[in-house]
Amino acid sequence: MAVRTILHYPDPRLREKARPVAEVTPAIKQLVEDMAETMYAAPGVGLAATQIGEPHRIFVIDIASDDEPSQLRVFINPEIVARDGELVWEEGCLSFPGVTEDIDRAAKVRVRALDAEGKPFELDCEELLAVAVQHELDHLDGVLMIDRMGALKKRIVDRKMRRREASRSATR
Ligand code: NI
Repeated sequence: MAVRTILHYPDPRLREKARPVAEVTPAIKQLVEDMAETMYAAPGVGLAATQIGEPHRIFVIDIASDDEPSQLRVFINPEIVARDGELVWEEGCLSFPGVTEDIDRAAKVRVRALDAEGKPFELDCEELLAVAVQHELDHLDGVLMIDRMGALKKRIVDRKMRRREASRSATR
């Protein structure tokens, strides 16, 4: 297992549309393990494969709080098959360090996916889990939280991130 480098906005690889996983091979299982390890090391509540430069339709989520046992959820080839209601949640993203913003999402979603063994499942999600599923699924389509911000906030975050990434590469 290995902790992988998380890409930061505006890295163009975050805009890649991920490909469906044809088969859950040992290589895919290894990727899932690396993603989980990378998410826990960050730490974060979710990570999409595109965030580590692997354009496969996979994300991992663990919304357990610090005082709860961890509960890793793996979603391969996920799709939202039903959505209901609206909610606003203050979201963050490992690809936008230090940025949080209120984002509009569906309040409830039903997601269909394959688990880490390639077995199909459906899951009804609400609150943070629903938000995380929608956020991570966006990543697989190359859609980022900044795309869902208002025009002014979008400009501020874009400038802040570009400045941050420029100074990071200058000191590397
Ligand atoms: Ni994200």
